[in-house]
Amino acid sequence: MLTCASCAQSSIARSPTINSSQEPGPDWRRVGPADELDEEDVMPFEFNSREYAIYHTRDGFFASDGMCTHEQEPLADGIVIDNVIVCPLHQGRFDVRTGKALSAPVCGDLQTFPVQIRDGDIYVQIPY
Ligand code: FES
Repeated sequence: MLTCASCAQSSIARSPTINSSQEPGPDWRRVGPADELDEEDVMPFEFNSREYAIYHTRDGFFASDGMCTHEQEPLADGIVIDNVIVCPLHQGRFDVRTGKALSAPVCGDLQTFPVQIRDGDIYVQIPY
């Protein structure tokens, strides 16, 4: 059982789909075409020298820190099963919707970021 304080459950937010030519606000970063990320897949995204992981599950698109909280392994090299990312190094698991750490050896949760699909493109809200 996970006992660290950072494992508290947070609410789950689906990625909204917005069909508009209006550009999102300045904190929204364009990742790329949504149809290039298959369901049950993950891709890396880098912004300001920080790596993020972008996920596509049956529940939508999600984004989190790109590095595992255990030993900083890139999560984009892992596998997505349902709404879970499995770390490639020690098979720790996180819920991609909330960032919650689900199984040892991971204990610290991932930071997650809002995602929108606009005109077929993935946008992630990452403040400066
Ligand atoms: S580095 Fe991810 S579980 Fe160890």
